[in-house]
Amino acid sequence: MNAELAAVGIGPGDPELITLKGLRAVQAADVIFAPQSRDGDASIALRIAAPWIDPERQRVVTLPLPMTRDSGQLRPAWQAAADVMLTELQTRQRGVYLLLGDPLLYGTFVYLWRELRERSPNLSVRIIPGITSFAAAAAAGGLPLTMADERLIVLPASYETDAATLQRLLTEFATVVLMKAGSVLPSILTALTQAGLLDHALYAERVGLEGEFITRDLRQLTPQPRPYLSLVIVRRGECL
Ligand SMILES: C[S@@+](CC[C@H](N)C(=O)[O-])C[C@H]1O[C@@H](n2cnc3c(N)ncnc32)[C@H](O)[C@@H]1O
Repeated sequence: MNAELAAVGIGPGDPELITLKGLRAVQAADVIFAPQSRDGDASIALRIAAPWIDPERQRVVTLPLPMTRDSGQLRPAWQAAADVMLTELQTRQRGVYLLLGDPLLYGTFVYLWRELRERSPNLSVRIIPGITSFAAAAAAGGLPLTMADERLIVLPASYETDAATLQRLLTEFATVVLMKAGSVLPSILTALTQAGLLDHALYAERVGLEGEFITRDLRQLTPQPRPYLSLVIVRRGECL
């Protein structure tokens, strides 16, 4: 197969936070693939990249991928998506697969990549990195991520939200980034309160998107689950 596929990180929300390389790949593509979003609504990645896509000239294909950890359900979905992509790429030479933030940070592309490689080992694939959600959140909230020799750790919040774990992590790392925080926000708030860290954190929701909400005052948050596109950064080190 002569086709080329680029997995493009389109940044966390603001369409202008795409890289120049990513923008060029999107604009040069004959076919644009995007994962369906969690809420079954149009793909978030597609909505972010919309200003850079010409639907008259470019074919847009959304791929339904179930949001579950059940590999029994996921594997057939990756396989079906890979089949659709390879069929499209038979007639359209240049494809891009859009991802939120950076493609290799909790992105879906690696699963697809495995299936694509098995089916079409000669398909040319490249990854174009993107600005991560936590980089954009730190920038918007004016919070340094690391300084000098400090260390930073990035975790999926769904697994690491008790006070003892957070306290232990903050003895080893100056900054802890908790991704996928929305559904477990109440336990994160409890842990931060118990650990005396409530004034050392930033909460960021839908950064760069409609409904953006970023605060360093976590006391104003009620202990309720928040949207999926949200994260918390906890920092022991100096805060500005
Ligand atoms: C599947 S991961 C994708 C991460 C993405 N590849 C990145 O580089 O940031 C989804 C998680 O990323 C974070 N996220 C992505 N976009 C975000 C945004 N615009 N605002 C806040 N958090 C976001 C949230 O923690 C969300 O639960």
